[in-house]
Amino acid sequence: SDPTLVERARTARAALGDSVFVLGHHYQRDEVIAFADVTGDSFKLAQQAAARPEAGHIVFCGVHFMAESADILTGDHQQVILPDLAAGCSMADMATAEQVEQAWETLADAGLAEGTVPVSYMNSSAAIKAFTGRHGGTICTSSNARRALEWAFGPARRGERVLFLPDQHLGRNTAVLEMGMSLDDCVVYNPHRPGGGLTREQLRDARMILWQGHCSVHGRFSLGCVDEVRARIPGVTVLVHPECRHEVVTAADLVGSTEYIIKAVDEAPPGSRFAVGTELNLVQRLANRHPDKTVVFLDRTVCYCSTMNRIDLPHLVWTLESLVRGETVNRITVDPDVAAYARKALDQMLALP
Ligand code: 13P
Ligand code: SF4
Repeated sequence: SDPTLVERARTARAALGDSVFVLGHHYQRDEVIAFADVTGDSFKLAQQAAARPEAGHIVFCGVHFMAESADILTGDHQQVILPDLAAGCSMADMATAEQVEQAWETLADAGLAEGTVPVSYMNSSAAIKAFTGRHGGTICTSSNARRALEWAFGPARRGERVLFLPDQHLGRNTAVLEMGMSLDDCVVYNPHRPGGGLTREQLRDARMILWQGHCSVHGRFSLGCVDEVRARIPGVTVLVHPECRHEVVTAADLVGSTEYIIKAVDEAPPGSRFAVGTELNLVQRLANRHPDKTVVFLDRTVCYCSTMNRIDLPHLVWTLESLVRGETVNRITVDPDVAAYARKALDQMLALP
């Protein structure tokens, strides 16, 4: 990256000291990660958001839903900044508040809302999180989805079924591969069709009503990629994120959140071989950090998360230098009524055993 920009970022960061807390998701570029006070998966970053109450500004290097969550979880005296407002998440956009209210109405009309517990992936808007909190549900991330489902079906909630938003793959992979449910226990709710395209009987009999959403980055990994890499690299360990499709996760050796993936590679002995199915910035960073191990991207083509990648050094420098001048740019705020219910669902996640 541009040496003058690196120098400017260093100078601004030093001038701001403890008044600023910089968080960085593992999918961020190296040039941005270099300036993060804390890096993490989405669960760790949610936990860490409120860890520095003395910092008046939190610069969130990640995507919009993460910055919203940080705003919900921090005090009024802290302002959350997203260095590029166009850093959204196409998966989060696949469930709008109107669509989800409509789905709940469908369930209520069928007399099924009572026994249904909403479990929403962190990758969702604050409005979806508020819906979840209003109906006694919880948020989950890829590192605690199983515990969230155990809570929803267990003595705390005794749900008959879960409405899982918005990532069908995380929902299905967790239910089938970790909770021992069958594929027949899962139905997919299509928000673009009346009643989700499901009959009342299908809704009633389902244990998991999976929203028809997905991550387009992880959706690119196919069974063919797994077969190809196994043929090419003997003894390779295929390590994937649970946002990948069910057949890919089933064919993989290990599955987990970004934090889990990093730990698996970091702790493996020299000479280990991994094919990693997650965002490319992270895979490349792991490969560079471990020249004594083989770490390859699971796909043959290059594939970044384009919105994560929008946060780059120029945007970070602009954000930090604005703060030095006393200007807050790109602040993310959540409406207080929405935030109150969203907080309930987020707190429920943070309290999962
Ligand atoms: P992690 O929860 O593993 O960080 O993954 C979240 C993600 O996909 C962000 O898009
Ligand atoms: Fe969203 Fe997928 Fe990008 Fe994660 S990797 S921010 S789920 S589009």
